[in-house]
Amino acid sequence: MKIAETLKDFAPTKEQITLHGLGFIQVKLPNNSRMHVWHPELPRRSCFAHSAIHNHRFSFRSRVLVGLQINQRYHVEATEDGTHDLISHDGPRSEKGGRLSFVAGRANFLPAGREVVPAGASYDMAELEYHETPNSGVVVTIMDKLSEGTTHANSAITHGHVFDQEFDRYLLPENVLWKYVLEALRCGESGPPGRSGSGNAYDDYVRENLDNPDAMPGVQPSKPWPRR
Ligand SMILES: [Fe+2]
Repeated sequence: MKIAETLKDFAPTKEQITLHGLGFIQVKLPNNSRMHVWHPELPRRSCFAHSAIHNHRFSFRSRVLVGLQINQRYHVEATEDGTHDLISHDGPRSEKGGRLSFVAGRANFLPAGREVVPAGASYDMAELEYHETPNSGVVVTIMDKLSEGTTHANSAITHGHVFDQEFDRYLLPENVLWKYVLEALRCGESGPPGRSGSGNAYDDYVRENLDNPDAMPGVQPSKPWPRR
């Protein structure tokens, strides 16, 4: 086997700001950090409803700046008749920014821990640990990689569905993406609508609802969102 065939491609996107098929904006920051900005208006890959569970090649620590990050972890049980196909993102990046991906197995996914992480708090994720982030409203996080492995990331998609490889990470122009980022950060300054915005009312709101994630309405923009 030639050396080139044994080398894996872990090259990141070249652009500093791009869309991600999971419904957030990814901003590359210095020192290998990333900012992630969720907003319900952002486009997602067409199979999102069936393929939100995923893992990462690296472990990371994520700090929430704005909103509530909902983090659902999963145990995975590899089995031939599993409910989900495992999609390995181990191909080269296409001109649309995503990696060509392949079905690499089948498994069942069993819900494990569920966390609701308020602004100011952090959580850690292990390398290759499966999870999904069913956020609503605006959420901003800063993610720092803790260690990097050599196994490509996977997604899981409900068996019988086809993974959308056509999602265009460059669908929206950069200036529009930056506008979303700025508005999301300003959202964090004023807190959710109907709250005092002083910080204390928001803290109380989070504290009251922490043990009841199903009651979490998410954090909505505090003013009209910029339209494209
Ligand atoms: Fe993730």
